[in-house]
Amino acid sequence: MSTVTVPLGQRSYAIKIAAGLLRQLGVECAGLKLGARCAIITDTNVGKKFAKPAFESLVKAGFEPTLIVVPAGENSKSLKSVQACYDQLAANRLERKSFIVALGGGVVGDLAGFVAATYLRGIPFVQVPTTLLAQVDSSVGGKTGVNLKAGKNLVGAFYQPKLVLCDLDTLKTLPEREFRSGLAEVVKYGIIFDAKLFVQLERDLPKLLRREPKSLTAVIARCCEIKAEVVGQDETEGGLRAILNFGHTIGHAIENSSGYGKYLHGEAIAIGQVAAAKLSQKILGLSPGEADRIENLFVQAGLPVKIKFNPAQRRKLLAAMKLDKKVSAGEIKFVLAEKIGRVVWGQNVPQGLIEEVLICG
Ligand SMILES: NC(=O)c1ccc[n+]([C@@H]2O[C@H](COP(=O)([O-])OP(=O)(O)OC[C@H]3O[C@@H](n4cnc5c(N)ncnc54)[C@H](O)[C@@H]3O)[C@@H](O)[C@H]2O)c1
Ligand SMILES: [Zn+2]
Repeated sequence: MSTVTVPLGQRSYAIKIAAGLLRQLGVECAGLKLGARCAIITDTNVGKKFAKPAFESLVKAGFEPTLIVVPAGENSKSLKSVQACYDQLAANRLERKSFIVALGGGVVGDLAGFVAATYLRGIPFVQVPTTLLAQVDSSVGGKTGVNLKAGKNLVGAFYQPKLVLCDLDTLKTLPEREFRSGLAEVVKYGIIFDAKLFVQLERDLPKLLRREPKSLTAVIARCCEIKAEVVGQDETEGGLRAILNFGHTIGHAIENSSGYGKYLHGEAIAIGQVAAAKLSQKILGLSPGEADRIENLFVQAGLPVKIKFNPAQRRKLLAAMKLDKKVSAGEIKFVLAEKIGRVVWGQNVPQGLIEEVLICG
Protein backbone atom coordinates (compact mmCIF):
# COMPACT_ATOMS: atom_id res chain seq x y z
CA MET A 1 0.00 0.00 0.00
CA SER A 2 1.13 3.56 -0.73
CA THR A 3 0.21 6.34 1.68
CA VAL A 4 0.42 10.04 0.90
CA THR A 5 -0.30 12.76 3.47
CA VAL A 6 -2.00 16.03 2.59
CA PRO A 7 -0.23 18.46 4.94
CA LEU A 8 -2.82 20.90 6.28
CA GLY A 9 -1.96 21.17 9.99
CA GLN A 10 -4.83 19.90 12.12
CA ARG A 11 -6.82 19.11 9.01
CA SER A 12 -4.10 16.88 7.53
CA TYR A 13 -5.27 13.55 6.16
CA ALA A 14 -4.00 10.38 4.51
CA ILE A 15 -4.60 9.13 0.99
CA LYS A 16 -4.19 5.35 0.92
CA ILE A 17 -3.70 3.57 -2.41
CA ALA A 18 -3.89 -0.22 -2.82
CA ALA A 19 -5.99 -3.05 -4.20
CA GLY A 20 -8.72 -4.36 -1.89
CA LEU A 21 -9.10 -1.23 0.27
CA LEU A 22 -12.89 -1.13 -0.02
CA ARG A 23 -13.11 -4.21 2.19
CA GLN A 24 -11.05 -2.30 4.78
CA LEU A 25 -13.40 0.69 4.78
CA GLY A 26 -14.92 -0.15 8.18
CA VAL A 27 -11.57 -0.79 9.86
CA GLU A 28 -10.10 2.37 8.36
CA CYS A 29 -13.07 4.47 9.54
CA ALA A 30 -12.84 2.90 13.00
CA GLY A 31 -9.39 4.48 13.28
CA LEU A 32 -10.87 7.98 12.82
CA LYS A 33 -12.88 8.16 16.07
CA LEU A 34 -16.20 8.97 14.43
CA GLY A 35 -19.78 8.36 15.53
CA ALA A 36 -21.57 5.06 14.82
CA ARG A 37 -24.12 6.38 12.33
CA CYS A 38 -22.99 7.11 8.79
CA ALA A 39 -24.28 7.43 5.22
CA ILE A 40 -22.77 6.06 2.04
CA ILE A 41 -23.56 8.41 -0.84
CA THR A 42 -23.09 6.75 -4.22
CA ASP A 43 -24.58 6.72 -7.72
CA THR A 44 -26.66 4.12 -9.54
CA ASN A 45 -23.70 2.65 -11.49
CA VAL A 46 -21.21 2.49 -8.64
CA GLY A 47 -23.84 1.47 -6.11
CA LYS A 48 -24.70 -1.66 -8.09
CA LYS A 49 -21.08 -2.75 -8.03
CA PHE A 50 -19.63 -1.56 -4.75
CA ALA A 51 -22.32 -0.48 -2.25
CA LYS A 52 -22.65 -3.98 -0.79
CA PRO A 53 -18.97 -4.52 0.15
CA ALA A 54 -18.76 -0.96 1.48
CA PHE A 55 -21.92 -1.41 3.56
CA GLU A 56 -20.85 -4.80 4.92
CA SER A 57 -17.40 -3.58 5.82
CA LEU A 58 -18.88 -0.71 7.84
CA VAL A 59 -21.38 -2.98 9.61
CA LYS A 60 -18.63 -5.46 10.47
CA ALA A 61 -16.66 -2.68 12.13
CA GLY A 62 -19.67 -1.72 14.28
CA PHE A 63 -21.06 1.22 12.27
CA GLU A 64 -24.72 1.80 11.37
CA PRO A 65 -24.67 2.83 7.72
CA THR A 66 -27.51 4.04 5.57
CA LEU A 67 -27.33 4.09 1.77
CA ILE A 68 -28.15 7.11 -0.40
CA VAL A 69 -28.13 6.52 -4.16
CA VAL A 70 -28.29 9.38 -6.70
CA PRO A 71 -28.66 8.94 -10.48
CA ALA A 72 -25.30 8.52 -12.26
CA GLY A 73 -24.16 11.56 -14.22
CA GLU A 74 -23.27 15.24 -13.95
CA ASN A 75 -26.94 16.21 -13.42
CA SER A 76 -26.70 14.87 -9.88
CA LYS A 77 -24.31 17.70 -9.01
CA SER A 78 -27.33 19.87 -8.28
CA LEU A 79 -28.99 21.62 -5.35
CA LYS A 80 -31.93 19.26 -5.89
CA SER A 81 -29.68 16.26 -5.10
CA VAL A 82 -28.19 18.14 -2.15
CA GLN A 83 -31.71 18.62 -0.76
CA ALA A 84 -32.55 14.94 -1.30
CA CYS A 85 -29.38 13.94 0.57
CA TYR A 86 -30.10 16.32 3.49
CA ASP A 87 -33.61 14.88 3.82
CA GLN A 88 -32.30 11.33 4.00
CA LEU A 89 -29.56 12.26 6.47
CA ALA A 90 -32.13 13.92 8.73
CA ALA A 91 -34.59 11.02 8.36
CA ASN A 92 -31.87 8.66 9.50
CA ARG A 93 -30.97 10.99 12.38
CA LEU A 94 -27.36 11.56 11.42
CA GLU A 95 -25.80 13.85 14.00
CA ARG A 96 -22.68 15.96 14.47
CA LYS A 97 -20.33 13.00 14.94
CA SER A 98 -21.91 10.97 12.15
CA PHE A 99 -20.05 10.83 8.87
CA ILE A 100 -20.49 10.49 5.14
CA VAL A 101 -18.70 8.14 2.79
CA ALA A 102 -18.49 9.40 -0.81
CA LEU A 103 -18.34 6.23 -2.92
CA GLY A 104 -17.96 7.03 -6.62
CA GLY A 105 -16.39 9.33 -9.17
CA GLY A 106 -15.95 13.08 -9.08
CA VAL A 107 -19.67 13.74 -9.31
CA VAL A 108 -20.42 11.81 -6.13
CA GLY A 109 -17.30 13.18 -4.40
CA ASP A 110 -18.18 16.82 -5.15
CA LEU A 111 -21.84 16.35 -4.18
CA ALA A 112 -21.25 14.28 -1.03
CA GLY A 113 -18.41 16.56 0.04
CA PHE A 114 -20.65 19.61 -0.25
CA VAL A 115 -23.43 17.86 1.66
CA ALA A 116 -20.90 16.95 4.39
CA ALA A 117 -19.58 20.53 4.47
CA THR A 118 -23.01 22.01 5.09
CA TYR A 119 -25.24 19.47 6.88
CA LEU A 120 -25.32 20.53 10.55
CA ARG A 121 -22.65 23.11 9.58
CA GLY A 122 -20.28 20.31 8.67
CA ILE A 123 -19.85 16.63 9.51
CA PRO A 124 -16.79 14.47 8.73
CA PHE A 125 -16.49 12.69 5.40
CA VAL A 126 -14.36 10.02 3.78
CA GLN A 127 -13.66 9.80 0.06
CA VAL A 128 -13.65 6.43 -1.70
CA PRO A 129 -12.98 7.51 -5.31
CA THR A 130 -13.77 4.91 -7.98
CA THR A 131 -12.69 6.65 -11.22
CA LEU A 132 -9.10 7.37 -12.21
CA LEU A 133 -9.96 11.08 -12.40
CA ALA A 134 -11.35 11.04 -8.87
CA GLN A 135 -8.38 9.07 -7.50
CA VAL A 136 -5.72 11.41 -8.89
CA ASP A 137 -7.62 14.67 -8.73
CA SER A 138 -11.12 15.41 -7.45
CA SER A 139 -11.02 13.41 -4.19
CA VAL A 140 -7.90 15.24 -3.03
CA GLY A 141 -7.75 18.89 -2.08
CA GLY A 142 -11.12 19.72 -0.60
CA LYS A 143 -12.96 21.43 -3.43
CA THR A 144 -16.60 20.40 -3.16
CA GLY A 145 -19.68 21.75 -4.84
CA VAL A 146 -22.55 21.55 -7.28
CA ASN A 147 -23.63 23.20 -10.52
CA LEU A 148 -26.21 25.89 -11.22
CA LYS A 149 -28.05 26.40 -14.49
CA ALA A 150 -25.72 29.35 -15.02
CA GLY A 151 -22.60 27.19 -14.89
CA LYS A 152 -20.53 24.43 -13.38
CA ASN A 153 -19.31 24.42 -9.77
CA LEU A 154 -20.84 27.80 -8.98
CA VAL A 155 -21.89 26.79 -5.45
CA GLY A 156 -19.41 25.06 -3.19
CA ALA A 157 -17.08 24.98 -0.24
CA PHE A 158 -13.49 24.15 0.54
CA TYR A 159 -13.92 21.19 2.86
CA GLN A 160 -11.31 18.51 3.42
CA PRO A 161 -12.09 14.82 3.92
CA LYS A 162 -10.75 12.87 6.91
CA LEU A 163 -9.36 10.13 4.70
CA VAL A 164 -9.14 9.10 1.04
CA LEU A 165 -9.14 5.40 0.13
CA CYS A 166 -8.20 4.60 -3.48
CA ASP A 167 -9.02 0.96 -4.14
CA LEU A 168 -7.37 -0.05 -7.42
CA ASP A 169 -9.77 -2.98 -7.80
CA THR A 170 -12.65 -0.56 -8.34
CA LEU A 171 -10.93 0.72 -11.49
CA LYS A 172 -11.31 -2.71 -13.12
CA THR A 173 -14.93 -2.02 -14.03
CA LEU A 174 -14.38 1.54 -15.24
CA PRO A 175 -15.35 1.99 -18.93
CA GLU A 176 -12.31 2.41 -21.21
CA ARG A 177 -13.28 5.92 -22.29
CA GLU A 178 -13.54 7.08 -18.64
CA PHE A 179 -10.18 5.51 -17.83
CA ARG A 180 -8.43 7.26 -20.72
CA SER A 181 -10.10 10.50 -19.75
CA GLY A 182 -8.55 10.20 -16.27
CA LEU A 183 -5.13 9.78 -17.90
CA ALA A 184 -5.39 13.36 -19.18
CA GLU A 185 -5.09 14.60 -15.58
CA VAL A 186 -2.22 12.18 -14.95
CA VAL A 187 -0.26 13.57 -17.91
CA LYS A 188 -1.02 17.07 -16.62
CA TYR A 189 0.89 16.38 -13.39
CA GLY A 190 3.97 15.45 -15.40
CA ILE A 191 3.78 18.65 -17.44
CA ILE A 192 3.15 21.02 -14.54
CA PHE A 193 5.42 19.56 -11.89
CA ASP A 194 7.49 16.50 -12.65
CA ALA A 195 9.53 15.86 -15.79
CA LYS A 196 10.54 12.45 -14.40
CA LEU A 197 6.89 11.42 -14.10
CA PHE A 198 6.37 12.54 -17.71
CA VAL A 199 9.22 10.28 -18.88
CA GLN A 200 7.85 7.43 -16.77
CA LEU A 201 4.48 7.89 -18.48
CA GLU A 202 6.09 7.86 -21.93
CA ARG A 203 7.72 4.56 -20.97
CA ASP A 204 4.92 2.87 -19.00
CA LEU A 205 1.81 4.01 -20.84
CA PRO A 206 1.06 0.55 -22.31
CA LYS A 207 1.17 -0.96 -18.80
CA LEU A 208 -1.11 1.76 -17.49
CA LEU A 209 -3.56 1.19 -20.32
CA ARG A 210 -3.62 -2.49 -19.30
CA ARG A 211 -4.31 -1.21 -15.77
CA GLU A 212 -1.39 -3.15 -14.27
CA PRO A 213 -1.66 -2.67 -10.50
CA LYS A 214 2.03 -2.00 -9.86
CA SER A 215 2.35 0.78 -12.45
CA LEU A 216 -1.04 2.19 -11.50
CA THR A 217 -0.18 2.36 -7.79
CA ALA A 218 3.10 4.15 -8.47
CA VAL A 219 1.56 6.67 -10.83
CA ILE A 220 -1.59 7.38 -8.78
CA ALA A 221 0.55 7.82 -5.66
CA ARG A 222 2.85 10.28 -7.44
CA CYS A 223 -0.10 12.31 -8.76
CA CYS A 224 -1.60 12.44 -5.26
CA GLU A 225 1.77 13.53 -3.84
CA ILE A 226 1.94 16.39 -6.30
CA LYS A 227 -1.63 17.47 -5.66
CA ALA A 228 -1.03 17.18 -1.88
CA GLU A 229 2.06 19.35 -2.10
CA VAL A 230 0.34 22.02 -4.18
CA VAL A 231 -2.78 22.05 -1.98
CA GLY A 232 -0.62 22.01 1.18
CA GLN A 233 1.04 25.22 0.02
CA ASP A 234 -2.09 26.92 -1.31
CA GLU A 235 -5.33 25.41 -0.03
CA THR A 236 -7.74 28.04 -1.34
CA GLU A 237 -6.17 28.93 -4.68
CA GLY A 238 -4.45 32.19 -3.86
CA GLY A 239 -1.60 31.39 -6.23
CA LEU A 240 0.29 28.13 -6.81
CA ARG A 241 -2.86 25.98 -6.92
CA ALA A 242 -3.68 27.67 -10.21
CA ILE A 243 -1.07 25.46 -11.93
CA LEU A 244 -3.54 22.58 -11.63
CA ASN A 245 -5.60 24.43 -14.23
CA PHE A 246 -3.08 23.82 -17.02
CA GLY A 247 -5.11 23.13 -20.17
CA HIS A 248 -8.35 23.89 -18.36
CA THR A 249 -9.13 27.41 -19.66
CA ILE A 250 -9.57 26.10 -23.19
CA GLY A 251 -10.76 22.70 -21.89
CA HIS A 252 -13.64 24.15 -19.89
CA ALA A 253 -14.65 26.34 -22.83
CA ILE A 254 -14.72 23.26 -25.08
CA GLU A 255 -16.92 21.38 -22.59
CA ASN A 256 -19.15 24.40 -22.29
CA SER A 257 -19.54 25.47 -25.87
CA SER A 258 -19.96 21.96 -27.29
CA GLY A 259 -22.72 21.11 -24.82
CA TYR A 260 -21.80 19.18 -21.69
CA GLY A 261 -21.42 15.49 -22.34
CA LYS A 262 -20.08 15.61 -25.90
CA TYR A 263 -16.52 15.60 -24.62
CA LEU A 264 -15.57 14.01 -21.31
CA HIS A 265 -13.62 16.36 -19.05
CA GLY A 266 -10.33 14.54 -19.72
CA GLU A 267 -10.88 14.67 -23.47
CA ALA A 268 -11.54 18.41 -23.38
CA ILE A 269 -8.46 19.13 -21.28
CA ALA A 270 -6.28 16.94 -23.49
CA ILE A 271 -7.17 19.29 -26.36
CA GLY A 272 -6.73 22.24 -23.97
CA GLN A 273 -3.27 21.09 -22.87
CA VAL A 274 -2.05 20.63 -26.42
CA ALA A 275 -3.31 24.14 -27.27
CA ALA A 276 -1.63 25.49 -24.10
CA ALA A 277 1.62 23.81 -25.17
CA LYS A 278 1.38 25.62 -28.53
CA LEU A 279 0.78 28.94 -26.75
CA SER A 280 3.75 28.12 -24.49
CA GLN A 281 5.95 27.72 -27.56
CA LYS A 282 4.97 31.17 -28.78
CA ILE A 283 5.06 32.99 -25.44
CA LEU A 284 7.52 31.20 -23.17
CA GLY A 285 9.77 29.51 -25.71
CA LEU A 286 8.77 25.92 -24.90
CA SER A 287 10.86 23.89 -27.33
CA PRO A 288 9.07 22.41 -30.37
CA GLY A 289 10.46 18.99 -29.38
CA GLU A 290 8.80 19.13 -25.96
CA ALA A 291 5.51 20.43 -27.42
CA ASP A 292 5.56 17.41 -29.77
CA ARG A 293 6.23 15.01 -26.88
CA ILE A 294 3.21 16.45 -25.03
CA GLU A 295 0.96 16.00 -28.06
CA ASN A 296 2.30 12.48 -28.68
CA LEU A 297 1.66 11.30 -25.16
CA PHE A 298 -2.00 12.31 -25.41
CA VAL A 299 -2.26 10.59 -28.79
CA GLN A 300 -0.72 7.43 -27.32
CA ALA A 301 -3.26 7.60 -24.50
CA GLY A 302 -6.04 7.57 -27.12
CA LEU A 303 -7.15 11.11 -26.30
CA PRO A 304 -8.21 13.79 -28.78
CA VAL A 305 -5.67 16.58 -29.39
CA LYS A 306 -7.53 18.86 -31.74
CA ILE A 307 -11.00 20.02 -32.47
CA LYS A 308 -12.60 20.96 -35.77
CA PHE A 309 -14.65 24.16 -35.76
CA ASN A 310 -16.59 26.31 -38.06
CA PRO A 311 -16.27 30.08 -37.41
CA ALA A 312 -19.52 30.20 -35.39
CA GLN A 313 -18.33 27.44 -33.07
CA ARG A 314 -15.00 29.20 -32.66
CA ARG A 315 -16.77 32.41 -31.64
CA LYS A 316 -18.85 30.46 -29.14
CA LEU A 317 -15.73 28.89 -27.68
CA LEU A 318 -13.99 32.24 -27.24
CA ALA A 319 -17.09 33.68 -25.60
CA ALA A 320 -17.23 30.69 -23.22
CA MET A 321 -13.60 31.28 -22.29
CA LYS A 322 -14.36 34.83 -21.23
CA LEU A 323 -17.11 33.56 -18.92
CA ASP A 324 -14.75 31.21 -17.10
CA LYS A 325 -14.74 31.72 -13.32
CA LYS A 326 -11.00 32.28 -13.41
CA VAL A 327 -11.21 35.29 -15.70
CA SER A 328 -10.65 38.51 -13.78
CA ALA A 329 -11.48 41.94 -15.19
CA GLY A 330 -11.97 40.46 -18.64
CA GLU A 331 -8.37 39.20 -18.90
CA ILE A 332 -7.99 35.54 -19.76
CA LYS A 333 -5.08 34.23 -17.71
CA PHE A 334 -3.28 31.08 -18.76
CA VAL A 335 -1.00 28.57 -17.13
CA LEU A 336 1.84 28.01 -19.61
CA ALA A 337 4.86 25.71 -19.68
CA GLU A 338 8.48 26.86 -19.85
CA LYS A 339 9.48 23.26 -20.22
CA ILE A 340 8.03 19.88 -19.30
CA GLY A 341 7.91 19.86 -15.49
CA ARG A 342 7.80 23.64 -15.04
CA VAL A 343 4.88 26.00 -15.59
CA VAL A 344 4.02 29.59 -14.71
CA TRP A 345 0.54 30.90 -14.00
CA GLY A 346 -1.20 34.21 -14.61
CA GLN A 347 0.06 34.59 -18.17
CA ASN A 348 -1.80 37.04 -20.38
CA VAL A 349 -2.42 35.72 -23.86
CA PRO A 350 -3.65 37.99 -26.65
CA GLN A 351 -6.93 36.75 -28.07
CA GLY A 352 -5.49 36.71 -31.59
CA LEU A 353 -2.93 34.14 -30.53
CA ILE A 354 -5.57 31.91 -28.97
CA GLU A 355 -7.52 32.01 -32.23
CA GLU A 356 -4.38 31.27 -34.23
CA VAL A 357 -3.57 28.22 -32.11
CA LEU A 358 -7.12 26.93 -32.30
CA ILE A 359 -7.33 27.44 -36.05
CA CYS A 360 -4.03 25.67 -36.61
CA GLY A 361 -5.12 22.99 -34.15
N1 LIG B 1 -13.34 18.72 -6.69
C1 LIG B 1 -12.36 18.78 -7.55
O1 LIG B 1 -11.25 19.22 -7.25
C2 LIG B 1 -12.60 18.29 -8.95
C3 LIG B 1 -11.51 18.11 -9.82
C4 LIG B 1 -11.76 17.59 -11.09
C5 LIG B 1 -13.07 17.25 -11.45
N2 LIG B 1 -14.09 17.44 -10.59
C6 LIG B 1 -15.47 17.06 -10.94
O2 LIG B 1 -15.51 15.66 -11.11
C7 LIG B 1 -16.61 15.35 -11.97
C8 LIG B 1 -16.17 14.29 -12.95
O3 LIG B 1 -15.76 13.15 -12.26
P1 LIG B 1 -15.66 11.73 -12.97
O4 LIG B 1 -14.93 11.87 -14.24
O5 LIG B 1 -15.15 10.78 -11.95
O6 LIG B 1 -17.16 11.45 -13.41
P2 LIG B 1 -18.38 10.62 -12.74
O7 LIG B 1 -18.36 10.71 -11.28
O8 LIG B 1 -19.59 11.06 -13.46
O9 LIG B 1 -18.04 9.13 -13.17
C9 LIG B 1 -18.01 8.79 -14.53
C10 LIG B 1 -18.94 7.62 -14.84
O10 LIG B 1 -18.34 6.42 -14.40
C11 LIG B 1 -19.20 5.71 -13.53
N3 LIG B 1 -18.32 5.02 -12.58
C12 LIG B 1 -17.64 5.57 -11.55
N4 LIG B 1 -16.83 4.67 -11.01
C13 LIG B 1 -17.00 3.51 -11.70
C14 LIG B 1 -16.42 2.22 -11.61
N5 LIG B 1 -15.45 1.95 -10.73
N6 LIG B 1 -16.85 1.27 -12.47
C15 LIG B 1 -17.79 1.56 -13.41
N7 LIG B 1 -18.37 2.76 -13.55
C16 LIG B 1 -17.96 3.72 -12.70
C17 LIG B 1 -20.12 6.75 -12.95
O11 LIG B 1 -21.33 6.21 -12.53
C18 LIG B 1 -20.29 7.69 -14.14
O12 LIG B 1 -21.27 7.16 -15.01
C19 LIG B 1 -17.04 16.64 -12.61
O13 LIG B 1 -18.26 17.06 -12.06
C20 LIG B 1 -15.93 17.63 -12.24
O14 LIG B 1 -16.41 18.94 -12.10
C21 LIG B 1 -13.87 17.94 -9.34
ZN1 LIG C 1 -9.50 18.69 -14.55
